[in-house]
Parts: sequence; C-alpha cells; structure tokens
Amino acid sequence: MFFISCSKIMITILFFLICVGFSDGANVRPSEGRKGQWQLLLNSTGVVGMHLALTYKNTVVMFDQTGAGPSRYKLRRRFHGSTCSRSRHDMMDSTCYAHSVEYDISTNKVRPLRIDTDPWCSSGSFLSNGTLLQVGGNEKGAKRVRFFRPCGNDQCNWIQSKKTLSDMRWYASSQLLPEHDRVVVVGGRRTFTYEFVPKISRGEKSFDLPFLHQTDDRNEGGNNLYPFLHLSSDGNLFIFANRDSILLNLRRNRVIKTFPRIPGEGSRNYPSSGSSVILPLDHRDNFQKVEVMVCGGSSTGAFTAAARRRFLEGLRSCGRMVITGERNKWNMEHMPKPRLLNDMVILPKGDILIINGAERGSAGYDNARNASLEPFLYSPNKRLGARFRVLMSTKIARMYHSSATLLPDGRVLVAGSNPHGRYIFHNVAYPTELRLQAFVPHYMERRYHSLRPNNLTIEYGGANHAIEYGKEFRVRFFLMRRPNNEMEFSAYAPPFTTHSFAMNQRMLKLRCRSLQRSGDGWVLAVLEAPPSSLVAPSGYYMLTVVNGGIPSMSQWVHFGHA
Ligand SMILES: *[C@@H]1O[C@H](CO)[C@@H](O)[C@H](O)[C@H]1NC(C)=O
Ligand SMILES: *[C@@H]1O[C@H](CO)[C@@H](O)[C@H](O)[C@H]1NC(C)=O
Ligand SMILES: *[C@@H]1O[C@H](CO)[C@@H](O)[C@H](O)[C@H]1NC(C)=O
Ligand SMILES: *[C@@H]1O[C@H](CO)[C@@H](O)[C@H](O)[C@H]1NC(C)=O
Repeated sequence: MFFISCSKIMITILFFLICVGFSDGANVRPSEGRKGQWQLLLNSTGVVGMHLALTYKNTVVMFDQTGAGPSRYKLRRRFHGSTCSRSRHDMMDSTCYAHSVEYDISTNKVRPLRIDTDPWCSSGSFLSNGTLLQVGGNEKGAKRVRFFRPCGNDQCNWIQSKKTLSDMRWYASSQLLPEHDRVVVVGGRRTFTYEFVPKISRGEKSFDLPFLHQTDDRNEGGNNLYPFLHLSSDGNLFIFANRDSILLNLRRNRVIKTFPRIPGEGSRNYPSSGSSVILPLDHRDNFQKVEVMVCGGSSTGAFTAAARRRFLEGLRSCGRMVITGERNKWNMEHMPKPRLLNDMVILPKGDILIINGAERGSAGYDNARNASLEPFLYSPNKRLGARFRVLMSTKIARMYHSSATLLPDGRVLVAGSNPHGRYIFHNVAYPTELRLQAFVPHYMERRYHSLRPNNLTIEYGGANHAIEYGKEFRVRFFLMRRPNNEMEFSAYAPPFTTHSFAMNQRMLKLRCRSLQRSGDGWVLAVLEAPPSSLVAPSGYYMLTVVNGGIPSMSQWVHFGHA
C-alpha cells in the first residue's frame, strides 16, 4: 500500500473491494420505472445540428450545409472581413451567416466557426491528438479534407487542408484505424470505392469496392449510403450496407467474410436510415468478441412511396450478430415501435439509447411522418423480451438531419432536424428545428447521488503523454457509501454523428486490477489500459466509473503508443 501515505494508514481503515465484472440484473432494480427527463438548453443554436462531435475540450462542434442559404446565425462580418449590412443583398447572402458553431457545455453558449466549402453530408473521425478530421461534402466540398483542432479558448477554427480526397465523398462514412492516425473513408453517392486519409504512398488512390455496387438500390436512392462501419478487434473493417455486410481486410484489400443477410424486408442505410452500434467490448474476453447491432430503417419502397406522399411504416426490428469467431448469425428482436432516422448512443453502463427519428417514411426532404418522441433504452444483457424500455417523451420532433451525442456528465445532447433544403419555419409538417435539448437519463436523478462516484481524477505519468496500451493507471474518486454493488469502468470514444450513424463510437469495459476504499470515502482503483490499438485506436476516451449502474462524470483519458 505504498501509495497511501503512512500517516493516513494510521488513522483510516482500508476496505478492500473486489473489482467485479459486468453483469446485468443485480443493478437493474433502482432504475425500474425511471424514464429520465428533457431539458431545453437553447432556443436556437443558429445553425442546424446536422453533424455533431464532442471534443475532448468539452465543446461540441456542429455544422450543416453552406448551400442551405441564410442560417439563423447572422454574422456582423464575413469571415474574410467585409461587413454584413442589413441590405437585401447581404440578408440573402449565405456568407453573412455561420454554418458551423461550437457549443460550450459549461457556458451553454455557441460561437460561430468559419467553414469555406460545403461540408454537407460529410464524415469525420477524431485523430489520436484529439483533432477532428472531417472529410467530404457537396460540390466544392466533396473532396475536401478539414481539421478542427479543439482549443477550449474560442481561438480555434476549421482548417481546410491543401490535400484533397481521390474521389468525391458525399454521404460517405469514416473510421479511425489501428495504424497511427489513419482513417478509411467508405462510399458516397455514386462512389463505389474506399480510400485512406492520409495516403501512405505517393500516387495512392482509392480502391474499388464491388460490395457497394451490389448493395446499391438504384431506384430507391441507394439504400447503401452512409454505410455502417465498425472496427473489429482483429483489425478488419466490418461494413454494413443496405441489408448485407462484409469483413474487409484493408491491408490486402480483400473481403475475408461475407455475413448472412439480415432477416426481414426493408433496408437499413440512407435513405432508409436505421442505425448501428458495436456493443461494448469487454476485458473479460480480452476484447475479442465483437458484436454489432443494427436497429430500425425503412420498408421496401419507402423512398419512392414518400415522393408520392405515401409514408410507409418503418422497420421495427433490430439484429445482433457476433462478427468474430466462426458462427455469425443475426439474432432478431423487436423495438416497442417502428423507427427510422434514429440515433443509437452507448450510455456509460453499456446500455443503448435509441433516440430521435420517425415511425413512417424515409430520409430525404419532407419524406418522413409521425415523429418518434420517446427514446428507447436497450439493455443488451437482459433476457430476450425484457431488453427494451420506453422513456420520457419530448415535444420536439427530431426528423431528418437531427443528431444526438453523449456528454461527459452523462446527459445526451440532442440537436437539429431540418427536412428541407433551406431554413423553413412555417407552413410545413416539420419546420427547421434549432432548439438544443439534453435528454437526462434516470441515472442522473438526485436520489442516486449517494451512489455516484465523485471527484474523479486520473493519475498520469505525465500530463501530455498517452497511457500506453496494456499499462496500468490509477483512478481516484470519492464514494459516499461503501459500495455493495459492482464497480465498472468504461472508456468511450466520442463519435462523429450525422444521418443516424455515430461513426467511431466505441465503448470498452476496462479491467480493474485492484480497488480499495479508505474510511474517509476515497477510492483508489488500479485499471489496465486496453491492450492494443486494434481494440482501441489511439485517442481520447471518456473514462467513467459506474457504481451499481450509476455513472460518475467522465474524465478524458488518452490511450496510445508511448
Ligand atoms: C426559450 O423561449 C421561451 C419562450 O420565449 C422562454 O420562455 C424560455 O425561457 C427560452 N428558453 C431558453 C433556454 O432560452
Ligand atoms: C494533430 O494531428 C493533426 C494531423 O497530424 C495535425 O494537423 C494537428 O495540428 C495536430 N493537433 C495538435 C493539437 O497537435
Ligand atoms: C401518423 O400521423 C397521422 C397524421 O398526423 C395520424 O393521423 C396517424 O394516426 C399517425 N399514425 C400513427 C401510427 O401514429
Ligand atoms: C468534489 O468536487 C466538488 C466540486 O465539483 C467540491 O465541491 C467538493 O468539495 C469535492 N469533494 C471532495 C471530497 O473533495
């Protein structure tokens, strides 16, 4: 016990606790019947939160499209300097408006960010140093590579790289890879290829991906755009498009597995727009088992039917499949209601929140009806049939071009919705939505405060260094009561979220080597960093201590190579 000072040992009694693994059941009772609440944070973000990403400086970057004309964030000056008057010309000039903002969680304010080319329907990934790499968009933005280096002091802005993509990427998805700061970008409208950013060798171009041809529903708007990407713990890339999925070895450019088609009718990817997550990876199997979940989407023909003002009922089913090992089979179950345009957010305990979206129609302008106002909570380890709960409903519809992301304090930020090509507030079924909300899950209620781990600090070797893979590190926190529940430790990679898919979202349940609580309530936990970049690509993760289902506030931790 060398790390407890001797004087302290004299006066405190140490309780040695057992680090217990994850299970469900034991800690479900306190949450039974609790539905959470909604908070209205801002009446207007000024810019539609079509794309969202939480930075490690505790800000959220949002943007929509420069092509939407005037937003509701009027600038006094254009980014290149000239003043924006109240003249008719300037009131209509989209360069007199912000199209991206940065939301500061602690001050609850937004500030405008400069964006030079259209990032509409683009993709993104955080690099190991916390910089957001964002690629693609529309028209002049379609081949662009942009960086946002979070600073937390209002001084940072988008930087457009001189390097460009090989192919146009509109509605593509991105995934950070185990190789240091390498990102793969897959698909896009009429782009049946993938490519890497940055390129390794001179002259490296994109690679054909016939799978994207095969899954293209030409007359239905594609149904394979914004493919669901998940990095498996063997380093291969899982790609789900429309109803099919493959495992791609990127080093050899070879499809090494073709998975069975997900059962049932309908499609899952844009414009059918269901959602997908990789379930939490767990130290108990050394992070080897990887299970993917896909929920919701649109019925067959929904996109063309919506054009004729017929809004077909969305899909109710979710599929789960273990993508590692030899036996890969979809296990199907049903949500309480049909849903599309839904976001899936992994909560600190490892439950999945299904939020936003609609019951009928498809993605695209004015193509959906019957907003899904109630989030669903899915508990993956409960018994089949008892996994879904319906949570508190909101009054605000979050349709096409809405998004959601987990915050470090445990709330879920909800923004956007704009099923129109411009900002329209009147005489439409679903107006442009600029209100910013947080869904506050039940675990944040005051009644659980005595269970909540507080004042979490992570002890690093050096503040600027990453914790090396496989190495142990210490976490200190305060617990009012001696825990009689299991203690769990999760690490969460913040995603880039748009069009119902949270790219790079990933949770790991970390191994705890020892845990002890002194009589005054301070707990010291010795944890083990994930074993490799295959399991956890290098970068910032949100570390959360979960006591009997009740999470602490998260702290950022940086995992990487020495
Ligand atoms: C939003 O606007 C309403 C109506 O004007 C007002 O009552 C409310 O306080 C505002 N909320 C916020 C968070 O600004
Ligand atoms: C992080 O890495 C990117 C890509 O190499 C670089 O452009 C950026 O400046 C770096 N950010 C910081 C904060 O060092
Ligand atoms: C969907 O909305 C329409 C019109 O608003 C309403 O008449 C209908 O009952 C709703 N359907 C469902 C299944 O809620
Ligand atoms: C924990 O942090 C809060 C502020 O977040 C502070 O008020 C409180 O005194 C701290 N508790 C302990 C035991 O240090």
